[in-house]
Amino acid sequence: MQVTIAGGGMIVHDQILPSFYQLQRLGLVDEITVCARHERTLEELAKSETIRQAFPTHGFRAVAGSYREAIARTRPRNLVVVALPDQLHFDAVMAALEAEQHVLVVKPLVLKVAEGEIIEREAQRRGLFVGIEYHKRFDDRSLVARRKYRAGDFGEFRLGTATLMEKWYYRRSNFQNWCTTENSDAFTYIGCHYVDLVHFITSLAPVSVSVYGIADRYPNGREGYLWADARVVWSNGACLNVQNSLSFPDDAPGSNTQGMTLYCSGGDKGAMLRHSDQYRGLEYVYARRPDSPGATVYAEPSPDYFQYVDLGDGGLTPVGYGYRSIEYLVGCCLRVERASDRQDAIREISNEGVVATPANSRHNEQVIEAARKSILSGGATVSIESPL
Ligand SMILES: NC(=O)c1ccc[n+]([C@@H]2O[C@H](COP(=O)([O-])OP(=O)(O)OC[C@H]3O[C@@H](n4cnc5c(N)ncnc54)[C@H](O)[C@@H]3O)[C@@H](O)[C@H]2O)c1
Repeated sequence: MQVTIAGGGMIVHDQILPSFYQLQRLGLVDEITVCARHERTLEELAKSETIRQAFPTHGFRAVAGSYREAIARTRPRNLVVVALPDQLHFDAVMAALEAEQHVLVVKPLVLKVAEGEIIEREAQRRGLFVGIEYHKRFDDRSLVARRKYRAGDFGEFRLGTATLMEKWYYRRSNFQNWCTTENSDAFTYIGCHYVDLVHFITSLAPVSVSVYGIADRYPNGREGYLWADARVVWSNGACLNVQNSLSFPDDAPGSNTQGMTLYCSGGDKGAMLRHSDQYRGLEYVYARRPDSPGATVYAEPSPDYFQYVDLGDGGLTPVGYGYRSIEYLVGCCLRVERASDRQDAIREISNEGVVATPANSRHNEQVIEAARKSILSGGATVSIESPL
């Protein structure tokens, strides 16, 4: 399968490109093309020291310019990866489907329920797989919690809290050019992970959302909701509070701070599920401060999301749920492509519910659409029109 990646920013550097290089190493994908608007982005990506160390003999075909043109030039029934700013996802996914491509799209799929429905219908009609990369689903702890919750071990979720704060320096990145009040906000950008996870674990559906956002100026003068406090109410009356921001101090350990606690009722006693998703038990003090942005002398690295390990083959091997998520999604594309009835295969994968597809993760678009309305109206409660 040939792979065309639209977008060459942070997530492509940190997770997507190295994961595809690893799949190339394993013989699961062929040529990789990366398309970004500017030559400079592609040059920086190609020069990345970490990626070169890990994959000294790998490279990608660089295409600067419009992602639509790059997608239109792909050979049918291959794979397009959409890693563009949130508000471009719908256009890029549709362009990929029109070019007869399977699609892997970074979260969030789209910002509106109606757009998600159009994608679902179009992909199903053409027998093409669309998968959304909610990689927290592939953190083993999420899969363990899901199995135990569904076996009844926690009773019923009633009240929860989730936090994901990115570092302050994000404000200086390319984010300031697109993660602005009219396009997105801290909840839409990062909070969606925990909303998806609560559904993934409990299978509950969201029914209403309110998001209070605080707007700040980026260094380039544009305005973004860089602090957000959200309340999501679920089909059984449970309530999840989600706090997100681009505010975690650059001098604090770890690349962010994040975690989730769900308080549950077992009928005659309480139950609880708590994940510290940032502090995973590692405490490092380096002799010198590493060069990467936000790096600190005292660090609490996560061995679970995405790391490189030396397995003695002359390069480095990506490990963690960031890699496993991409591997699983590519496996789904291959499964659909090889199926005698591709439409059936798509339905089967959606029904299994492990990977997010447009058909089985509508809750995300519902919450995001309601959240955007709410944050733009100062935090009003917005009901989800047709809860699942
Ligand atoms: N944890 C996660 O799952 C996670 C983390 C980070 C980002 N993301 C998602 O990934 C997407 C990209 O985020 P990022 O952090 O990489 O952002 P970024 O700003 O670093 O990169 C965006 C890229 O898109 C490219 N681009 C923009 N407009 C384009 C166009 N018209 N044609 C071609 N290329 C264009 C830019 O050149 C840039 O390379 C967003 O949807 C974001 O929500 C997901």
